[in-house]
Amino acid sequence: MKIRSASLISSNAHYKMCPQDLKPEVAFIGRSNVGKSSLMNVLLQRKQLARVSKMPGKTELIHHFLVNDQIYFVDLPGYGWAQVGHATKMKWEKMLREYLLHRPNIVTVFLLIDAKIPLQAIDLECISWLGQHQIPFAIVLTKADKKHKMVAQKHYMALIDSLQQDWATLPPIFVVSAHNRLGIEKMLGYIESVTRP
Ligand code: GTP
Ligand code: MG
Repeated sequence: MKIRSASLISSNAHYKMCPQDLKPEVAFIGRSNVGKSSLMNVLLQRKQLARVSKMPGKTELIHHFLVNDQIYFVDLPGYGWAQVGHATKMKWEKMLREYLLHRPNIVTVFLLIDAKIPLQAIDLECISWLGQHQIPFAIVLTKADKKHKMVAQKHYMALIDSLQQDWATLPPIFVVSAHNRLGIEKMLGYIESVTRP
């Protein structure tokens, strides 16, 4: 997939305010700081289209990016970050759940998981929740930079083991780095295949 244009067209706190024109959309979700915004910038070949920060909790709204005038890429707040305070955490997680349940034009949710750290219970809960609600998803292991290659490989194998316990067929799994573009072309090819009219 070649990116010809990409721009932020709306930022909303509620799914009801999001664009209503039903273009196919791919959403990026995951724990706070997992690298959602960074990955989107690399996929879209823009340095700071989606806002990146060392501090978790940078993305606070549902951001729609219109790509090639045809599809939406959606950046969402992270889940599972305790430091923002219980009320904010609950508000973001509700926003995220409601969004995922009320957008029939979602063709794939990319669930991002940090390849540098062991698989977290909250990520497995999220995978089960997506399955339970029959929301199509793919898993993306992020931050698999050269220097984390061994540990990323170990966590990749552990993820497969864990998924095989619950799933007869595994979802697509991508291993990426926003720092060295590992896996980026593969992801773009996949996005093109699922959003093709
Ligand atoms: P929130 O919006 O706060 O939930 O975070 P996010 O998931 O959008 O993460 P973001 O893209 O803001 O990145 C968080 C931190 O991870 C930043 O310090 C990034 O530089 C770093 N990061 C993102 N991608 C990579 C990567 O591929 N490799 C490494 N080593 N660091 C990364
Ligand atoms: Mg973000």
